[in-house]
Amino acid sequence: MGYRGLGLLYSMQNNFPIVVLLSGRGSNFRALTQRLSDAHICAVISDRTEAPGLEFAREQGIKTFAFARQDFPTKIAQKEAIYSAVDSFKSKLIVLAGFMQIIEAPFVERNLGRILNIHPSLLPRHPGLHTHERALEAKDEEHGCTVHFVDAGVDTGPVVAQAATKIAPGESAEALAGRVLALEHDIYPWAVSHIARGEISISGREVSYSVRCRAEADGHGFRIGREACPQAAGSNGA
Ligand code: GRF
Repeated sequence: MGYRGLGLLYSMQNNFPIVVLLSGRGSNFRALTQRLSDAHICAVISDRTEAPGLEFAREQGIKTFAFARQDFPTKIAQKEAIYSAVDSFKSKLIVLAGFMQIIEAPFVERNLGRILNIHPSLLPRHPGLHTHERALEAKDEEHGCTVHFVDAGVDTGPVVAQAATKIAPGESAEALAGRVLALEHDIYPWAVSHIARGEISISGREVSYSVRCRAEADGHGFRIGREACPQAAGSNGA
């Protein structure tokens, strides 16, 4: 590739900078590094210095920042440091990938439509923790994951896309979790890439999709729009 090609590649990569927030193993972050297109991860920020996802980011040459609770007098001081670091990148999208913290309303409000999360259930079913166990206890026929924009509630933001799977008879929570995680690794990079390309957009709580994006979602078996959240009145779900 000549200089011109490299320049073009550089400008495309930087066209849609995203910041990833994580607290743990970072398998979704890993999937993003491998499968994203038209977006560029400019930093990974964590509330835990020992998060394995940070180690992988460093190996990839991605900037990392960790703000551990013990280094701050209060929890809110820790969160403010995280928010300042995120703000400093002026990214187009803030991608939560297993970030185990509630995001305070003022930060959400000033970034409305710019924070994305992946949740391991078919929202609005099973917001919160232990989703796989709860899906089994509830004898759900299907389970899966949801990509959604973040609002001030917990797992209540406008739904972007869902991937579902039938629960097998007698399936363990561990087996189900593994299958759902594999779906997460497909759908999250897909959703972020489509947002980066402008093929998925949000206005208020209304999520819109290009015709091409709708066809692709169909091809992947992803649910989008009203199909993703039949219980909700609009396309925006939870
Ligand atoms: C995933 O199950 C995701 O849905 C949830 O947190 C978990 C993060 O896993 N929000 P990983 O750190 O990406 O492996």
